[in-house]
Order: sequence, then structure tokens, then C-alpha cells
Amino acid sequence: MMERDTSGYGRITVGLHWLTAALVIVLWLIGEFVEDLLAKGPLRSAIWSVHFGLGFLFTAVLVALLVWRQTKGRKLPVGDPGPLHRLAKTTHAALYVLLTVIVGLGIANAFVRGVSLFGVVSLPQLGDKALRRPLTHWHGLMANLLMVVALFHTTAALMHHYLWQDSVLRRMLPARS
Ligand code: HEM
Ligand code: HEM
Repeated sequence: MMERDTSGYGRITVGLHWLTAALVIVLWLIGEFVEDLLAKGPLRSAIWSVHFGLGFLFTAVLVALLVWRQTKGRKLPVGDPGPLHRLAKTTHAALYVLLTVIVGLGIANAFVRGVSLFGVVSLPQLGDKALRRPLTHWHGLMANLLMVVALFHTTAALMHHYLWQDSVLRRMLPARS
């Protein structure tokens, strides 16, 4: 039985972190596989609409996470302030930068294409349509790079938990009573 954990990041940071992880994985799976798995048609368009809708939702989550971490989000003491801590900080910064770039390219792409959401609302088509190819290319490339960095980040979190058996992963989990 674990005692009540009051040393964690707190409900809002933990909630936003796991919402980020879940949305990012779903967005990546859709972006990466929908064209390969589905023929052109209404189902494929609907799944792209899910990508765009969740993409806009995720944009709000990312802004909330960034603002929260810079303002009231709890700062926790550093366990070991050596090179591994600097590596962790650099990884977190890389995750934030990649997420921001991917969202920026995704939104620009959505407007350049004037995409439709479930055939109900369409975004206004803005800018040069020829940009859709490079925007999609860079959005996809950055999304794949994000997955590599996130895998490294996940491996590190699991090593803390199972190998070094410290509290680093536990403090990003919902507090248990
Ligand atoms: C971290 C969040 C996101 C991830 C991981 C992600 C991932 C992807 C991937 C892997 C692709 C396929 C790229 C390719 O074909 O090379 C894609 C396409 C696309 N994404 Fe995202 N995306 C994210 C957020 C967004 C957001 C916020 C928007 C804006 C609403 C967006 C709009 C688009 C558009 C317009 C396409 C091209 C669709 C098409 O080819 O018809 N994405 N995304
Ligand atoms: C796509 C998936 C993920 C993304 C984008 C992501 C992103 C982030 C970011 C940006 C931070 C820094 C938060 C801050 O201090 O401002 C963070 C922290 C953290 N993440 Fe993730 N994460 C993902 C998946 C995971 C997974 C799967 C695990 C666990 C297995 C995990 C465990 C942690 C832990 C333990 C921390 C806190 C580290 C510390 O206290 O220094 N993350 N994550």
C-alpha cells in the first residue's frame, strides 16, 4: 500500500500531461496510417476530420499546459542535479518545441487546404495552395521525430520506475489515497 502522495505534480499538471500523451498518440496514428489503411471515400474523410478536430483540441491543451507550467504549476525539487537532469530538461524542452512546431504547421496546413470538418464546417482557404505539400511533409517529419523523442522520454521514465526505483514516474501519476 502506498501512502497518500502529496509530493506529486498535482492534478492539473498530471491531467494535462496524460491528455497530451493520449492525444499526441491518437493524432500520430491517424496521420501516419489513415492513407495506407483506407481507400479514398467518406470514412477516410471523416477520420481526417477527427485528426483536425482533435488537433485543434490539442492546441488548446498544449497552450494550457505551457501556461500552467510557467505560472502556477508545481515545481518539484531536483533529485540529482547532474548531467542526467540536464538531459531530462533538454528532452522536455525538445518535446515542447516539437509539439509547438507540429501544431503551427498543422494549423497552417489546415487553412492552406481549407479543410472541412465532417462536411459540416469548412475552414476558409488562405494562402498559396502549393504550400500544402511542403507543409504536410514537414508536419509529418516533425511528428515522426516527436515519436522518437517521446519514446526516449518514456524509456527514461520507465527506467526511473523499474531500474532505479525512484519517485520520478510516480509523481506524474494521479495521487493515490
Ligand atoms: C502533435 C500533434 C499532431 C501529430 C502527431 C500529427 C501527425 C500527423 C501526421 C503523421 C500526418 C501525416 C503527414 C504525412 O502524410 O506525411 C498529419 C497530417 C496532417 N495533419 Fe497532423 N498532427 C498533429 C496535429 C495537427 C494539428 C493541430 C492540425 C491542425 C488542425 C493538423 C493538421 C494536419 C493536416 C491538415 C494534415 C494533412 C492531411 C492530408 O494529408 O489530407 N495536425 N498529421
Ligand atoms: C507522446 C507522449 C508524451 C509526451 C508528448 C510527453 C511530454 C512531456 C513533457 C513536455 C514533460 C515536461 C513537463 C514539464 O515539466 O513541464 C513530461 C514530463 C514527464 N513525463 Fe511525459 N510525455 C509523454 C509520454 C510519457 C509517458 C508514456 C510517460 C511514462 C511512461 C511519461 C512520463 C513523464 C514523467 C514521469 C514526467 C516528469 C519528469 C520529471 O519529473 O522530471 N511521459 N512529459
